[in-house]
Amino acid sequence: MSSNSIWRAPWCAFAAAWLAGCAGNGMGLDAGGRPLPPGGSGGGELTADFDSIQQHVFTPICTACHAGSNAPQGLHLDAGNSYAQLVGVPSVEQPTILRVAVGDPDNSYIIQKLEGHAATGAQMPFGGPPLPQATIDVIRQWISAGALRTQDLTGEPSPP
Ligand code: HEC
Repeated sequence: MSSNSIWRAPWCAFAAAWLAGCAGNGMGLDAGGRPLPPGGSGGGELTADFDSIQQHVFTPICTACHAGSNAPQGLHLDAGNSYAQLVGVPSVEQPTILRVAVGDPDNSYIIQKLEGHAATGAQMPFGGPPLPQATIDVIRQWISAGALRTQDLTGEPSPP
């Protein structure tokens, strides 16, 4: 009995924070949903390369909705699908605007959705606190720099 209560209490506290919208700001959780110290560690800091954005933003925050057969607007943001469904792909809500327009963050629908000035629908993450502008700026930087699949800063190939 005691081993159960030891584990239940912190989990409930975490779940309550999540439901209250206190967690999931793009910097505060690692890919497993565990809280990170400010600035990030363990999974590394958020940097302007695709894998880092996937790991710090898309996987922990966006796949709560954007995954599986009911993914809104057919947009899957899990690691296996996100790049191919974002870069150079027209948005469903505003088909004249690409979800990610290479080199052009202002005209990238994902940025408009994250900053809350898209012509259609709600700010992302839907119903949650907006991402910090610093996080959005990192995504802008990635798009400006060419929205590469991997920036390969380390010389290591990224996992498929
Ligand atoms: C709680 C569920 C939820 C979460 C979390 C969420 N979304 Fe969404 N998303 C939606 C819904 C619902 C829509 C369609 C309605 C709307 O646009 O308001 C949508 C639409 C979008 C669109 C428009 C797609 C198109 O082709 O028109 C983009 C881009 C998007 N989301 C990006 C994101 C990103 C990036 C994140 C993570 C930072 C995110 N969303 C998190 C529910 C969610």
